Amino acid sequence: MSTTQTTTTNWFFACKTSDVPTNGGVCVKYKDEQIALFYFSRRDEWYATQNLCPHRRQMALSRGMTGTVKDEPKVACPFHKKTFSLADGRCISDETECSLTVYPVKIIDDLVYIGVDTLFAAI
Ligand code: FES
Repeated sequence: MSTTQTTTTNWFFACKTSDVPTNGGVCVKYKDEQIALFYFSRRDEWYATQNLCPHRRQMALSRGMTGTVKDEPKVACPFHKKTFSLADGRCISDETECSLTVYPVKIIDDLVYIGVDTLFAAI
């Protein structure tokens, strides 16, 4: 399975790989944060972002529609369809300044870990 290459040092166990729907997302909680975790089965790639949509501050991105645009993985918020890159979190549906925090993901023995160094930095 693919894993995001990173120098992350703080990983937390999120769930089993079987807990995440194929080509879909789930919401996992880390302390007070909600993280949207996605699995793209065709590409065998994992992504994690904040679950909070920055547009109208809805906890909704894990329920968003996933897909690709020009081979870039994306998620569309279910509320107003703003679309974000899962690779770097930028909004790709319009010119707005809102973007997502993204987190590295690694898989070890069918267990999913999310790197939360940026959350530690914010605390
Ligand atoms: S709340 Fe997500 S696009 Fe508006």
